[in-house]
Amino acid sequence: MDLPNKWIQADHAHAWHPFTDQEEWERESAPVIARGEGVWLFDVEGRRYLDGNSSIWTNIHGHSHPDLVLAIQEQAARLCHSSYLGLASERASELAEALCAFFPGTLERCFFSDDGSTALEVALKMSLQWRQQNGETERRGIIAFEDAYHGDTLGAASIGGVSRFIKGYAEVGLEVYRVAHLDDLMNLPQVVIESASAIVIEPLIQGVAGMRPWPEGMLLSLRAWSQEKGIHLILDEVMTGFGRTGAMFACQKEGVIPDFLCLAKGLTGGSMPLAATLMTSEIYEGFKGVGRSFFYGHSYTGNALGCAAALASLAIFKKENTLSEVEEKGAYLEGELSKRSFVKAIRRVGLMIGFDVTGGGQEFCRVLRERGVLTRPILDTIVVMPPLSISRDEMDFLLAAMPE
Ligand SMILES: Cc1ncc(COP(=O)(O)O)c(C=O)c1O
Repeated sequence: MDLPNKWIQADHAHAWHPFTDQEEWERESAPVIARGEGVWLFDVEGRRYLDGNSSIWTNIHGHSHPDLVLAIQEQAARLCHSSYLGLASERASELAEALCAFFPGTLERCFFSDDGSTALEVALKMSLQWRQQNGETERRGIIAFEDAYHGDTLGAASIGGVSRFIKGYAEVGLEVYRVAHLDDLMNLPQVVIESASAIVIEPLIQGVAGMRPWPEGMLLSLRAWSQEKGIHLILDEVMTGFGRTGAMFACQKEGVIPDFLCLAKGLTGGSMPLAATLMTSEIYEGFKGVGRSFFYGHSYTGNALGCAAALASLAIFKKENTLSEVEEKGAYLEGELSKRSFVKAIRRVGLMIGFDVTGGGQEFCRVLRERGVLTRPILDTIVVMPPLSISRDEMDFLLAAMPE
């Protein structure tokens, strides 16, 4: 096979990609992305692609947004990183304050980590440790939903419910009890309820399950149930956070405040890896005192570049009034897609859309890529989740690439 350029050659010789059949990968030649601008990605051959899944659900304001670039450049010139152990940092302090300001008097603490999976690890470990040192040692289990996806580190994977992601790990991680929907909670054995530390959910819509929205009001009922049973509620807003639903956070749509809120992906507008887990003062207070510290952290916790990017992203939300058009854009795409005969069972929350196709999602997305639109299928579900900044013309380009 003709390998077109030195990057593909080096990739095929030495790199290893996530969730990828490497044998198949080495037979093909994927675009090598060199540059991004707005919703567009450009490869080294100069071809452009509309980023139809926001670079795996991370990008919010478009690629290389000038405000983000400037914030990162200015921060890099001043300080790239300093340890968060025994030291505070300007940008991390500002970001913790800014994130907690979305939840005045409720989620008042912020713990930083690196990506979605670690945001979940933090919440899980914090919930479990809190039980151990606050007189509830019998609460060691986690209730999770079937078909859920919470990441790939061992703890996050073990609470997942999509079999292809947890094969080989489901049994070696946490004590997990899986339920399919709200009704199952009403019939849970008492022993499960009394031994549960936390229940974890992707609010409003399950992503990796195939873009499956929960019934309206489900989150509110779940919060009432978890409060009544004394079980921590962990909301995984790694995908839904930062405007994708039309609200800044999905939980705001049903007026729900969890015990833990996990944020990543869109936190930096899609520019830098950074995550944050927000929690209540009650949780925080339970870790005060000798021998009660939260023993968790990464070398890059509170990274100054990531925090500067996240602050700049929050400022862009205000400056560009980003949230105001999310619902309208989502409705336009849904309306136009629904007219196409190949679209089956379309689902949407805000600017997150999934629909099913017959004949294979992989092949569908390969054809889309040839027509200049990038997205990834989930089996036979096609995900359309462009940056929130997408314009009407760009949406029309995306629609024109789809078959009639
Ligand atoms: C809901 C949800 N939680 C957690 C994760 C894991 O995030 P990351 O890939 O940044 O570890 C994802 C990733 O797709 C996700 O969709």
